[in-house]
Amino acid sequence: MEQYAIRGGNPLVGEVEIGGAKNAALPILAASTMTDETVYIDNIPDVRDINVLLDAMENIGVLIKRTDRHKVVLNAGNIGNVVLEDEALKKIRSSYYLVGALLGKYKHAEVVLPGGCDIGSRPIDQHIKGFRALGATVTIEHGLIKAKAERLVGNHIYMDVSSVGATINVMMAATMAEGMTIIENAAKEPHVVDLANFLNSMGANIKGAGTDVIRIKGVVKLHGTEYTVIPDQIEAGTFMFAAAVTKGDVTVKNVIPKHLESITAKLLEIGCEVEETDDCIRVVASKPLQHTHVKTLPYPGFPTDMQPQIAVALALSEGTSIVTESIFENRFKYVDELTRMGASIKVEGNTAIITGVDKYTGASISAPDLRAGAALVIAALAAEGTSTVDDIKYIQRGYEDFHLKLQSLGAQIELVQTEKDFRKFKLRTG
Ligand code: EPU
Repeated sequence: MEQYAIRGGNPLVGEVEIGGAKNAALPILAASTMTDETVYIDNIPDVRDINVLLDAMENIGVLIKRTDRHKVVLNAGNIGNVVLEDEALKKIRSSYYLVGALLGKYKHAEVVLPGGCDIGSRPIDQHIKGFRALGATVTIEHGLIKAKAERLVGNHIYMDVSSVGATINVMMAATMAEGMTIIENAAKEPHVVDLANFLNSMGANIKGAGTDVIRIKGVVKLHGTEYTVIPDQIEAGTFMFAAAVTKGDVTVKNVIPKHLESITAKLLEIGCEVEETDDCIRVVASKPLQHTHVKTLPYPGFPTDMQPQIAVALALSEGTSIVTESIFENRFKYVDELTRMGASIKVEGNTAIITGVDKYTGASISAPDLRAGAALVIAALAAEGTSTVDDIKYIQRGYEDFHLKLQSLGAQIELVQTEKDFRKFKLRTG
């Protein structure tokens, strides 16, 4: 069984290159099925969720060539099937993006219901409401979402909640609908904007992405394109907080500082120094960390995907902090694991009350989901002694070469397979 072995105590120091955004690349890959022409996409992260989606797309006849680790060429001109039942697809959230894309182009899609990290109930009512508003019949049968339409016609759709997934899915379906679709209370996350830019580069007519109101004028056909995915806001934020937690000095490279504003603001509040240049951010943590309060919110608020990472920093800060999770109800599952490392955290409903402690101590812990897993690794890097982190398959869903990037910053972390590997790691690291 693969796990990370970590010897804590080294401040992370150096520069780290941030990869393409997983949550932008996933819908962009799905949307590339909406043209018969060839699409070239760069800056695709080599992570498990992406590879599962690419395999499923290949299974329905999309020709896919990875020209290097981060570049793919796709041609969906010969799709033979719009029914996707792959077992692996059940495990990822973004499988449902194939519903919006295939419904948009072929007016029919049947895709297994999505899984993804267990961070809350994750309903898809807003996706379904949007597809129905465009004229599709949508049913859920035998574990599949089935969406079908004679024709799709633009409509005025008000999202009851600001949902990244529903905004993206409805935007894709509406791209080739007849007439104008207006999505109100749309999600404004950078990946929503990136997908809109990608679709526009294929000939779509989408305006307003990044604001509450997105206007989509349907087009008959989309064409091939070349596109580069934006940098991953959450990977960057994770390394920025890793600098804070380990009292380090880390520069994240190839980022869009604007996308990281809420993260930068919190790092400043807790006493870090942050320097921004065009596409780099340097975080230096030379003073004791201070407490603060944070509430997760849709973009441009503080991201729910950064909530465990900030909590790991606050649990080592002076004073008492309050973390409120307002997006997903089940995102404090890392608290028990962090408690084993010495943290003092009390969860009441969607709020964690964190009393700062002086240090963490190494322990055997498990990653409960992707972001919490990454946060626990960071805690272990700051802890006294050795830790092991199990269930790293969750972390590998969304972080490319996580341990290698951390090693390049001076972390003592290794991927170990056996008890013997672990003993060797302990001997080497003391
Ligand atoms: N919601 C509904 N109905 C819906 C859809 C969503 O009530 O039809 C609710 C959810 O329950 C939640 C809120 O709306 O309370 C926001 O959910 P959203 O739809 O925005 O989340 P998502 O699209 O399922 C994406 C990311 C998540 C990230 C959230 C929030 C992908 C593949 N996933 O999920 O990323 O946490 O947006 O920003 O893009 C991760 O990468 O680790 C991850 C979990």
